[in-house]
Amino acid sequence: MTEVQAYGTIYEALGGGETVRRIVEAFYPRVKRHPLLGPLFPDNIEPVMEKQYMFLSQFFGGPSLYSDRYGHPMMRARHLPFPVTPKRAEAWLGCMAEALEEAGVDEELREIVLTRLSGPAYHFVNTEDDPT
Ligand code: HEM
Repeated sequence: MTEVQAYGTIYEALGGGETVRRIVEAFYPRVKRHPLLGPLFPDNIEPVMEKQYMFLSQFFGGPSLYSDRYGHPMMRARHLPFPVTPKRAEAWLGCMAEALEEAGVDEELREIVLTRLSGPAYHFVNTEDDPT
């Protein structure tokens, strides 16, 4: 592990906002195509991408773009209108794993990022999987 990864922020280790942008751009086309995730999202995905860029920049330890614009993230509350099931959390993380790879993030850092995101993803679960 390099010193940056041991002591710096994920944002720095990724190489800053440009990489966060590439991750978001690789992520949402996958989300839209995913049968469990796609139907939850609006046709015009651009505004969601912009918010996610701002949120992830801040979540990874970069500039507080999201809070500066929208106030306290309250991310679990913002997800309550949508049925987030354990399978959807898993699917979301799967799309993110592929997006990180497409964005050229190396494997060790991909693992760190996914571990960091899996806490919130499962925390946002607000209903159980449909048993059918
Ligand atoms: C666990 C599975 C997840 C599902 C199914 C999900 C789904 C959604 C949906 C449907 C929206 C609303 C899109 C719209 O504006 O109409 C949304 C917004 C958002 N999600 Fe998620 N999400 C998940 C996990 C996450 C995680 C782990 C993060 C980040 C740690 C995240 C960050 C965001 C952000 C930043 C927004 C925009 C919030 C805003 O409107 O200001 N989501 N998500």
